[in-house]
Amino acid sequence: MQFTVAIDGPAAAGKGTISRGIAEAFGFAHLDTGLLYRAVGRRTLDGTPPAIAAATLRLRDIARTDLRTPDVSDAASKVATRPDVRAALVAFQRDFARRDGGAVLDGRDIGTVICPEAEVKLFVTASAEVRAHRRWLELTEAGHDATEASVLEDVIARDTRDSDRADAPLKAADDAVTLDTSHLSIEDALEQACSVVRKIRENRP
Ligand code: DC
Repeated sequence: MQFTVAIDGPAAAGKGTISRGIAEAFGFAHLDTGLLYRAVGRRTLDGTPPAIAAATLRLRDIARTDLRTPDVSDAASKVATRPDVRAALVAFQRDFARRDGGAVLDGRDIGTVICPEAEVKLFVTASAEVRAHRRWLELTEAGHDATEASVLEDVIARDTRDSDRADAPLKAADDAVTLDTSHLSIEDALEQACSVVRKIRENRP
């Protein structure tokens, strides 16, 4: 059975939690596509040119534990503006999306470019302030030193770069269901997302 759930949205809107929750609830595989761009960004910080870093990406690059730092977020968002980097990562994502047993992919361009045929498309969003607060909590809990104001600045800069780029910008697909998590608990956001998936699965021919 092939069944793809495409989840897009800006940083820290809750895509990761919702994607993992859907994958668990329905027994689907999950790919956080941001990790691919983070791994490429990480390698560029180590001196590898972006196109080469993307074309030679290995599983061990994606498994690194230092991909969530602010400098890697920034590098990822920068390499993600490059068409050569994006093109190198398409086939892997599409193969993952059509794997047997169902797949959830989360990112920025999954419903628009990677899987325009996805059975379910969700656009998960929240206000910049709410997202910055969540990201700041995550960073400080992980022991990073950051002010909430600087995290908000980073979030807005990344939103602008992700949304304004020419190739595969962040935007909701025309047929995506938008879920604003600004005032939702994790449980309620996940329940709403699961109910969209459930309805579409039940109504399949
Ligand atoms: O989802 P994330 O914050 O881990 O993503 C890191 C960066 O990667 C983000 O700023 C934009 C880029 N990205 C992208 O351009 N396309 C995707 N499908 C996923 C992430």
